[in-house]
Parts: sequence; C-alpha cells; structure tokens
Amino acid sequence: MKPFRLRTLGLERQNKKKGRENVSDAFVTPGGATLSAGQYDGMVREAHTNPEVFWLQQARRLTWQTPPTQASRSDFTQDVRIEWYADGFLNASENCLDRHVRTQPEKTALIWEGQEAGQREVLSYRHLYERVCRLANVLRRLGVKKGDCVAIHLPMVAEGIIAMLACARVGAVHVVLFGGFSAEGLAERLTDSAAVVVLTADVARRGGKRIPSKTTMDEAIARCGAASAVRHVLVVPVTGADVPMQPGRDLRYAEEVAKEAADCPAERMNALDPLFLLYTSGSTGRPKGLVHGTGGYLTWAAFTHAVVFDYKPDDIFWCTADVSWITGHTYVVYGPLANGATIMVYEGLPSWPEPGQWWDVIDRNGVTVFYTSPTVVRAAMREDEAVVRSRSLKSLRILGTVGEPISPEAWHWFHDEVGKGHCAVVDTWWQTETGGVMITAAAGCVVPRPGAAARPLPGVEAVLLDTQGKEVAGAGEGLLCMAQSWPGQAMSIWGDHDRFRQTYFTTCPGHYFTGDGARREEDGYYWITGRVDDVVNVSGHRIGTAEIEDAIATDHEVVESAAVGIPHDLKGQGLVVFVVPREQDVFHPSAVNTAVAAGVGRYAVPEKIYVVRDLPKTRSGKIVRRLLRKIASHDLEGLGDLSTLADPDIVGELIATVKAQE
Ligand code: WTA
Repeated sequence: MKPFRLRTLGLERQNKKKGRENVSDAFVTPGGATLSAGQYDGMVREAHTNPEVFWLQQARRLTWQTPPTQASRSDFTQDVRIEWYADGFLNASENCLDRHVRTQPEKTALIWEGQEAGQREVLSYRHLYERVCRLANVLRRLGVKKGDCVAIHLPMVAEGIIAMLACARVGAVHVVLFGGFSAEGLAERLTDSAAVVVLTADVARRGGKRIPSKTTMDEAIARCGAASAVRHVLVVPVTGADVPMQPGRDLRYAEEVAKEAADCPAERMNALDPLFLLYTSGSTGRPKGLVHGTGGYLTWAAFTHAVVFDYKPDDIFWCTADVSWITGHTYVVYGPLANGATIMVYEGLPSWPEPGQWWDVIDRNGVTVFYTSPTVVRAAMREDEAVVRSRSLKSLRILGTVGEPISPEAWHWFHDEVGKGHCAVVDTWWQTETGGVMITAAAGCVVPRPGAAARPLPGVEAVLLDTQGKEVAGAGEGLLCMAQSWPGQAMSIWGDHDRFRQTYFTTCPGHYFTGDGARREEDGYYWITGRVDDVVNVSGHRIGTAEIEDAIATDHEVVESAAVGIPHDLKGQGLVVFVVPREQDVFHPSAVNTAVAAGVGRYAVPEKIYVVRDLPKTRSGKIVRRLLRKIASHDLEGLGDLSTLADPDIVGELIATVKAQE
C-alpha cells in the first residue's frame, strides 16, 4: 500500500458545514420516472446478490449476433483480468443503428447545430446509418482491418460521431484525440496507438478562434517520423478553408464518401474485442491509452444512460461534452444511440458571440435532458441573471453534471434557475476507466443531496479503504475503491497490461483503486473529496502534473519544476507551477507557457508561474507538494514541521514570492 494522504478540498469543508440536506423535489421528474425507487433498490439488491443473472439480463438491452452465456470472468488478483460476456458476439454500430433502422427509420437520431447562425442538420436513424456505412466502406477500401487503430481529430461536427460508428462497423479501434492537443501531444498518441488512418478537420472553430487542425496533424505525423503508421488522412471540410494536401496520403472526406454505397456489412466482433482507446492522464508522465471492450462497455453505456437519466423515447438528450472525452463517447454517442434516443450536438461555446447560446439551443430544439459540467454551471452563474431568466427552458426534465464536484451553491442555482425548480438534478461521479456513471442519484430513484455524488449504481461495489488498506465500515473517509468489476470497466492500457495492473490494482490489492478520496455518510451517500494522486482537474480536464513537469523540463534553462493544483472559483482547480531556473535573473516565466503549450497543449498552460530559487524537499530529495499546494493557495495555517526539510528557509522565500504576485 502506497502512503496516500487524504486531502480535503475547500468544497468538502463547505459541504460539511452545510450538513446533510435532501432535496426531494429534485427527485421526482415531471411525468414520473420509468423506474420507481423501490424497483431501483430491487436492482441494487439483485446485482449484489446475483450479479451473473443480473448482468446477463442487462446484456439483453443489446442485440447480439451470439448472446453470451457468462457475464463476468473478471479477476482483480494476480495478472488482473477484466472480461465481460467473453463468449458473446456483437457489433456496436449495429446496436446503435441497424436495429433502430428496422423499427424506427425516420426517428431523429441526431440534431446538429453549428456555431454560425442557421447551421443545422437533422439526421434520421436511416440517414445516420447511410452516412456511417459510406464512411465504413471508405475505411475498408483504404485497407483498414479489424483491430487496426483509426484516429479521429474533429470538433463537434456530425462526422466525428459518424467516424466513431464507422470504425465500430468495420471492427477498427477508434482513438479520438482532443482538438486542444499540441502536435507533440498528438504525435505521442499516434505513435502509441499506431493509427493507420486519421480523420481531421481542415480548420476547427472555437468562438472567434480558428484552430488549424490539419496543419497541426501534418506536424504531428511528421514528428512521428519512421514510427508513423499513418497511411491516409481524411480531411473533413468544417470551415472550407484551403489546406495543404499531401498527394497520395491526404484525401478529401466528401469526395471519398460520395464514391461509396450506403450499405456496409458490419464486422462480427467478440465482446472482448476493443471498441476504442482513449488517452487519459495519470500520476506518471506518459498518457495512457485505456482500452474499452465492445460487449461490456456497450452494455454499461446503454444501462447507465437509461437508468441514470430515466430515458424516455421522446427525449432530446444533450450531453455537452466534447467527443474526445469519455463523457462524449458514452453519453453523446454510445449510450443514447444504443437506446435509440435522439441526441443533440452543438458545435458552439455557451457564451459566444454572447451569453445564453446554450439556453437557446435548449429552447430551439426542445432538449429534455441536459448533461454538462460544473464549470459551465459556475460560468453561467456569473452572468447577469436576466440571461437565464429570459429563456423558457420548459422542455427540460433532467439536469446532470459530471467531471468535478459541484458545490451545493452551484447545484441549487442549476436546480432553481435552469431547472426552474422542477427538474431532477443528477451529479454523476465516474472516470475514463469506468466507462460510464458509477455513483449518482439516479433520476427518480435516489433522492439527491446537493454536493454529494450520492449512491453507487446497481452492481457498483464501492468501498472505502484507509491508508493501511483496511476497509472503512459505515460512516467515514478513505480511498475510493471498487471491490468487484462492472461491465463498463476498462480492460487494459494499450500495449501495457502490466502498467494497468500496477496503476489500478496494487495500491489496494484485490481492489480497483480510483485515485479519488471519498467520505461516506452512515446512510451510504458518498461525497467525493478529490484526487489523492498527482492529477489536477482543471474545468473537468484531467491533467497529470508529471506530464506538465516533463514538458517544462524540455526547456534547458530550467533545473526543475513542480506543478500543483489549487482551488479555483471558476475552473474547480487551477494549475500552478513553481520553476527553478538555471539563472533566476535572466529567466522569463513565459518560457514555461511555451514549453507546456508545445509539449501538451494550450489548454494545460498554468494559471500562475512562480520562479523560485529551490523547491521544498525532504532530506532524501523528495519534493513536498503538500507545502507547495498550501503556499500557492495562501493557506498558511498548519504548514507542519518544517525542520525535516533539507532547507527550511526556502518556505519563507516561497511565501514571499507568492505574496509578491498576488
Ligand atoms: C473527477 C470524467 C467529483 C474525479 C467522467 C475522477 C468527479 C476524475 C466527478 C475522472 C463528480 C468526475 N464529482 N469528482 N461528479 N466526476 N470527477 O477520467 O476526480 O476525465 O477521478 O472522467 O474526475 O476524470 P475523467
């Protein structure tokens, strides 16, 4: 057991003061929920006492080419094995398309709105099916085989979703890459995944900004050099800008799909065949490609989308997450489409060109479920209240948040101002590794408690362990772990199963360790207290501090640096860097920004940079990050015994540096 310390965030203190508070009017959804609280509790019991039967039954939400006869043969000990529905065969795109085309071909599958006024496209299930098939045929023609990786580097356009489903159709493993990654960040992931085809945009737009997707991708592929497996780049026209095309390698998306038929047989996939890789940050430098399988993941996506958000067939379901995030994978694409829902996709920002854009999207399209991040809620709270009050928002029935804790204050604002007091509000705790929601107050089934993640879903065997690895019984605080596997659990880290085992299963042997700390009330409600490892959550972006430090280390003027997260009003957490340069007098802190933007991406550029003589270290040379966090957040009480530091004087200097930049 590694010596993890439990950290308490400011938010948690705020929650503790407020104490327990149930909001039962945020529990009943207008029109009533599909599942009653009693039925839900029954599912929790059944999944606990009879998981095999329960999960085989839940798998019937999907259409299988060969139905599985066994649910789980997962094992958290020894080499670690995560295996769900191992003898089942299915295709994820068939589940999201074909079966709905058979029963409801004209139902709207996807409503897309672009950020420029008037850009709107409505695709029925039949239309979506045809567009996916055309692209799937292109991929096959380009030689993409079952098991090959295909990278998708697109903004929120319909083609991003079409590309994911087209990959699934031909058995290719999709790797969706965030538009904010630098060329270096992209290159690292292209090399690790050995992607053979890339889909990118000509240019992406983000409010008034233009993001040169194609040229950044060109640079990324060039950086991969001989290690690049990329044979073709398909360029999707988003703005229609002229971009350089490399003859033989680069192809125009629109021309290629126009050549193909609107039908394409789906590959037969084993439940354990990877559906996608998704890179995420951990406490060590290299980003890791988490591998999600087909059968378990899709079952979890369909199950959680239906149960957490009380899915009803006439829902217009809007998850605002970017598809390059796990939330986009599971709740923009796979969960709702597997269930035959109508999804809303909007390319634009909440407040560009002016505040209230997202409220207009809701009103224009009759959105019923709105799933977003606390960062978005906090930003909206700061706007003039006339913005939200001037919109109807009456189509809404369920509101959700994910990615970071939501403060009771933001929760109430969301409930009162956006939900107009009549919507269910669901906070949802989960991770890239979990595939879908794990802890939540499922709409209509569990009474929410503002600020609390609430209760584990059926089949989620959450436990708290103390720093000695002993289970905490009843009320208490500890490391949040899972005692049993669940269908949505990632199967491995791409190409490095041993890293998977070491990262998640050695801290608390026999358990999956989430990296989060949590507090549990005596009645079983969970409050997430935040990461206990060196991962910082900036506006829901998961950033590994080691990744930042590695990027800074590429600057030869830097001796060393330490990145830490501190509480931030708007972003949840802000990233702060302490940097020790070779020569303090000539070093310019902007060099840190340049190094981070180049090595990771602009989104990870720190909030504050402190140029210092040295870092606080123990006598054995370990950086005392706890001190840095406290100093950077002006929390100077209880700094602890400084005499054990190699150089106790440095603390006073650091405090002075931070004060001087206030
Ligand atoms: C944090 C996003 C509190 C947590 C789906 C977790 C949350 C990390 C919540 C995963 C929540 C996510 N309340 N904290 N509702 N949801 N987190 O992989 O620290 O991008 O470990 O997945 O975000 O981030 P990831």
